[in-house]
Amino acid sequence: MNVSLKVYRFNPETDKEPHYDVFAVEAEPNDRILDCLNKIRWQQDSTLSFRMSCAHGICGSDGLTINSQSALACQKLVKDYDFTKEILIEPLKYFRVVKDLMIDLNSFFERIKSITPQAVQTTVNLGKERIQSIRERSRFDDALKCILCGCCYSACPVMTEQDQEFIGPAAILREQRYIFDSRTEDDTKERLQIMKKSHGVWGCKSYYMCTVVCPKKIKVTEAILKTKKKIIQEQQSKIQQQAGEN
Ligand code: SF4
Ligand code: FES
Repeated sequence: MNVSLKVYRFNPETDKEPHYDVFAVEAEPNDRILDCLNKIRWQQDSTLSFRMSCAHGICGSDGLTINSQSALACQKLVKDYDFTKEILIEPLKYFRVVKDLMIDLNSFFERIKSITPQAVQTTVNLGKERIQSIRERSRFDDALKCILCGCCYSACPVMTEQDQEFIGPAAILREQRYIFDSRTEDDTKERLQIMKKSHGVWGCKSYYMCTVVCPKKIKVTEAILKTKKKIIQEQQSKIQQQAGEN
């Protein structure tokens, strides 16, 4: 059957404004949207730019806006959409477009870097194995599934409409992973400080869109709420400690 894809096009070197091209692609209902885009690039227009790598939901490089919702092109099938009508293919929202469907992810990775996305070596139990129970590990298991695709940034109304500087769901999720890791508890206070900054965790208004679109089905909003709760608990224990001293 023939499927129509209406694709966002923009080449900053030659175009003043973006436009859309419509391509008719021979496809089956079980074909992926990524297969359709590859067919366009291989058979109709080799200038169409988009990113892909693994084609199996692992690398996170083919995040797109498909019929107005963020998704990975390799995870979505033609039959997931009403293919009797044009399927609208656009780049992820929020990010600057480099060309066509390719976006500049620098602002995304800058945010991830800003939360110190690695365990910091401490002097506590240095040189000793830091044993962790299954239960302790389960507190941040979900966050480890993140593939840094950026779909949650594109779907978040805070990022796209209210606060361009908001640190964003994936960065908070990553910080939550270290805050709740029993092996890195000694730097929790500093990590909570980062989350408390303006445009930090309190910027989240719990729209739940990050959770809705996340291709790895991570409960992103729940992780953000747990981080907020941890900050409140930390402040309460500080107040109780001060009251005890007076
Ligand atoms: Fe992608 Fe989900 Fe990670 Fe956001 S939380 S970057 S949507 S995998
Ligand atoms: Fe790697 Fe889709 S191409 S996640």
